Amino acid sequence: MKVRKAVIPVAGLGTRFLPASKAIPKEMLTIVDRPTIQYIVEEVVASGIEQIILITSAGKSAIENHFDYDFQLDRVLTEKKKDNLAEEMNRLSNLIDVVSVRQKKPLGLGHAILTARNVIGNEPFVVLLGDDLVLSEQPCTKQMLNLFDQVGESIVAVQRVPKDQTYQYGIVEGTQQSKQVYKVDRMVEKPAPGTTDSDMAIIGRYILQPDIFDLLEKTAPGHGGEIQLTDALLALAKKRGMYAFEFEGTRFDAGDKLGYLKAIIAFGLRHPDICDDFSEHIKEVAAQL
Ligand code: G1P
Repeated sequence: MKVRKAVIPVAGLGTRFLPASKAIPKEMLTIVDRPTIQYIVEEVVASGIEQIILITSAGKSAIENHFDYDFQLDRVLTEKKKDNLAEEMNRLSNLIDVVSVRQKKPLGLGHAILTARNVIGNEPFVVLLGDDLVLSEQPCTKQMLNLFDQVGESIVAVQRVPKDQTYQYGIVEGTQQSKQVYKVDRMVEKPAPGTTDSDMAIIGRYILQPDIFDLLEKTAPGHGGEIQLTDALLALAKKRGMYAFEFEGTRFDAGDKLGYLKAIIAFGLRHPDICDDFSEHIKEVAAQL
């Protein structure tokens, strides 16, 4: 079945980025010339998905506005003969169909995904977490969709992390099937040090069978007292099987101060308007260290 829809949860408070995220959603923080959420949406579009479902909360309307058509801005840019900019703004508002659903209580990532149930219906869908930006030749989501065409079951994106960082992630234990693919045997959300030998961390990209919704409904609060997606994923893996996929590309945790700065450097060095001058500047800075 073709995967047509992507869920992007953006309801979180973004406490790791206070005070920057106090009055604006953390998803609207800029990397070079666009907010982090736009990189996620462009990955979805480049992967051939047709609709995005944003899971929002109070104070997040700037994200909806960003992908909306702004009649006044269009008129001003056109009057000022800034045709290229007007065109770019129109491209942005026409990127993809965007629907938003409110998560009424902050009960966790699993609960946020469950909020999308009625809009998704009974078909497989993608989930992308806004903190995880992936720089790759082929979009990470597209790589996963290609695998989904072969295996037809749910997939989580994984990446190896240092053993002393596994407590920050959902961790997968699996049996290797091929170079980049593992069959999921066990998963645990933010394991206490020493409780798993695996270093395969879940990165915020998932393709899920809609069976996940029934399982999420039955999922009791887990780590941190929240309804964890990872707990329902384990139930789904047991019910119909699941794959972990070591994607190709570099992942940035844009929800973390250092990860965010690294993303700015990586995307800045690839931005056609500034890459040459920026690269010169980085060399000068490095030489002074
Ligand atoms: C979430 C997931 C976790 C995953 C991580 C990836 O955690 O619950 O399983 O490894 O995203 O970024 P969070 O970072 O929101 O606490």
